[in-house]
Amino acid sequence: MEIKDLFLNYHGLLVPRISHSEESLNRLEKFTVKDDDIFAVTYPKSGTTWMQEILPPLLNGGDLTTVQTIPNWDRVPWLEETRACFILDKIPSPRAMVSHMPYHLMPQTFFNSKAKVIYVTRNPKDVLVSSFHFHNMATFLDKPGTLEEFTGKFLAGNVIFGKWTDHVKSWRNSDLGDRILYVTYEEMLQDLRGVLGRILTFLGRQLSAEALDCVVDHCTFKNMKTNTMSNYSLVPQNLMDSKKSSFLRKGIAGDWKNHFSPELDAKFTAAIQEEMKGSNIKFPWDEE
Ligand code: A3P
Repeated sequence: MEIKDLFLNYHGLLVPRISHSEESLNRLEKFTVKDDDIFAVTYPKSGTTWMQEILPPLLNGGDLTTVQTIPNWDRVPWLEETRACFILDKIPSPRAMVSHMPYHLMPQTFFNSKAKVIYVTRNPKDVLVSSFHFHNMATFLDKPGTLEEFTGKFLAGNVIFGKWTDHVKSWRNSDLGDRILYVTYEEMLQDLRGVLGRILTFLGRQLSAEALDCVVDHCTFKNMKTNTMSNYSLVPQNLMDSKKSSFLRKGIAGDWKNHFSPELDAKFTAAIQEEMKGSNIKFPWDEE
């Protein structure tokens, strides 16, 4: 299939037609954000599904029923997707949503609201590898070609939701003050309990130590992989071919080292450094 059949061009961003439409993007622009709305914002493959697992129990006193009975896309819906209109009016406040939108493409009402954002960043090398495998298994995306070819597209921003660097800079430079919390995928892997504690404080919520332990245990990679409401096994094989790759694939930091040649690493590092130059944004993986 051709690129134009697979993607819509939304303000210069490619967005997959399978889950987005002109109407859903119009609705996004007119969406009325409530002051108690909570958005987990990510560049794709940075931990979106993980946040869809984490937020419901943190917001409802540790009850895991929602995450055990409702698919991730309906329990914490994507703000910009076609399904949003069927769900957002029905979920109780405070509403938790996810979004892949860069900062400037959030709905107008977001900017003057008090809605909070948790922005998750992941090492772009692992984002690239995760995305490469996802493109191989998801039939509604373009075929990635070789990893080197896919890297070219990724660095040029010819991938869904544009350049990683633009996305990260847009949110890291936002003027949201205490309305935004920055976490990394790597911190979540290292100390999930600690990150959940920070999220609870940010949201002004509390959980007992026992309830928090249960949420942490439920949200481990191993346990999410067997949760049919979260592992995308409900999606037909002709859309996501799990024989090629699982959606919840490896769930580790540093898998790029198993994929990158020294040449690819040098090219990728230089390109990202160039784009981030002068931004004052530093990540632990910059030193690796
Ligand atoms: P890998 O492909 O590297 O395994 P998103 O949900 O934003 O599309 O991101 C998907 C990535 O997050 C996948 O990475 C997936 O395995 C990983 N992921 C999801 N839940 C996770 C968890 N509980 N622990 C670690 N990684 C997780």
